[in-house]
Amino acid sequence: MNRAASEGMAPSSGRSIVRRWLLLGAIIALALEAARLRMAAPTPPAELTPVQVRLVLSMSPVLAPPPDPTNRLADSPAAAAFGEAVFFDAGFSADGTVSCATCHVPALAFSDGLAVAKGLGTGKRNTPTIIDSAHQRWFTWDGRADSMWAQALHPFLSPVEMGITASDVVQRVRTVPALAAGYRAASGHDLSTDPEDTAFATIGKCLAAYERTVASGRSPFDEYVDALRSGDQDAASTYPIAAQRGLALFVGRGGCIRCHSSPVLSDGEFHLVGVPDAAGVLPQDVGRFQAIGVVQSDPFNAAGSHSDAPNGDQARLTRALLKQPELWGAVRTPSLRTAWGTAPYMHAGQFQTLGEVVHFYNTLEGAVALDHHAERMLAPLGLTADEEAELVAFLESLQPTAGR
Ligand code: HEC
Ligand code: HEC
Repeated sequence: MNRAASEGMAPSSGRSIVRRWLLLGAIIALALEAARLRMAAPTPPAELTPVQVRLVLSMSPVLAPPPDPTNRLADSPAAAAFGEAVFFDAGFSADGTVSCATCHVPALAFSDGLAVAKGLGTGKRNTPTIIDSAHQRWFTWDGRADSMWAQALHPFLSPVEMGITASDVVQRVRTVPALAAGYRAASGHDLSTDPEDTAFATIGKCLAAYERTVASGRSPFDEYVDALRSGDQDAASTYPIAAQRGLALFVGRGGCIRCHSSPVLSDGEFHLVGVPDAAGVLPQDVGRFQAIGVVQSDPFNAAGSHSDAPNGDQARLTRALLKQPELWGAVRTPSLRTAWGTAPYMHAGQFQTLGEVVHFYNTLEGAVALDHHAERMLAPLGLTADEEAELVAFLESLQPTAGR
């Protein structure tokens, strides 16, 4: 009996001890898990002040580009179709190998992945995207064109890009039947009835009509702004927390929005942020300072005889430009809508990654020419490594959602 009893007891008391230990173990495990969760839980997104919320709302959505009265064909579908054909046609280069799309590659966010452009020769500057460019007022890094159509004429003539003449361009359109038909459909008349420079300008206007259709798609950031606008907390919470915190830095302590403003994240103006040259010396590129004379003397500028609004706002702006010393080395603020896909960065491809760009702004390490002519809006930011990564997460959240 005793034995039986003790045998009967032992397992039962053993089970209760085991149960107690299991319970204790479970409590400890729960406590540990709670502690782990507390530690792993990301810091909640930085609160935005009402002013910052208004700034965020001003960054989305990207609407249709503003009208371009200097180009009567700007929004003509027939002009865009003909312009697209020219854009992808390498026949418009001296050796038949270079088209606009050689450097503005659709699969590379209309850039080329190179530090500086390569056409017939090697250029001095990084190829910018053309996505959303139609929102700008000045084109290229130094803004030496005051319309998209005037800009489109430059690469043909550049010996390091396509290396042909205006008359070669017109001649090709005249002799290739599909192009001649495209020109007729776009302009409403035959190319041979136009003087050569008028035909050349018209081809530029059609290229611009195509480029105006190249726009960025909706991104997770745009979804987030919609959610903020409508007060939909559930939808807002699907935007990654790192990106939310990066956005708060972008409109807050980082000060990025002072230049990267509007839905395309560019103020359209010219600044010297002091990015060191590849060689680490003073920038050789004088940027906007030199471009002002170029745009004012361009026979195809907004005030010229080929413009469809020679007395319009853009013409007035171009005429009024002043070559001020603080424009030395300044370049136009690039859009950041496509920064996720257009490495390397800056006007000469000085930085390989967005992380390097953000680290530069944070520390201003190696910044050049920050003298009395230079940008007074920049100072080292004192961000932590995590905060740098959050700014990058925000920039990456501008990548359009697949399928949109
Ligand atoms: C050899 C490479 C190359 C070719 C070919 C080329 N581009 Fe570019 N594109 C560039 C570079 C580099 C810049 C910046 C130039 C600068 O700032 O000096 C640029 C700037 C531009 C811009 C300005 C974008 C902005 O936001 O300011 C547009 C628009 C553009 N190109 C359209 C075209 C068109 C249209 C063609 C064909 C007729 C063309 N490009 C051919 C390399 C190229
Ligand atoms: C003073 C105006 C100004 C401020 C403030 C500013 N930027 Fe810029 N940003 C520019 C200009 C101008 C360039 C082009 C500089 C160059 O190429 O030399 C640029 C270039 C960039 C580029 C490279 C884009 C490309 O396509 O090459 C990124 C990314 C960028 N800025 C992000 C930021 C972030 C993030 C902040 C805030 C920490 C910021 N910027 C603050 C004016 C500014």
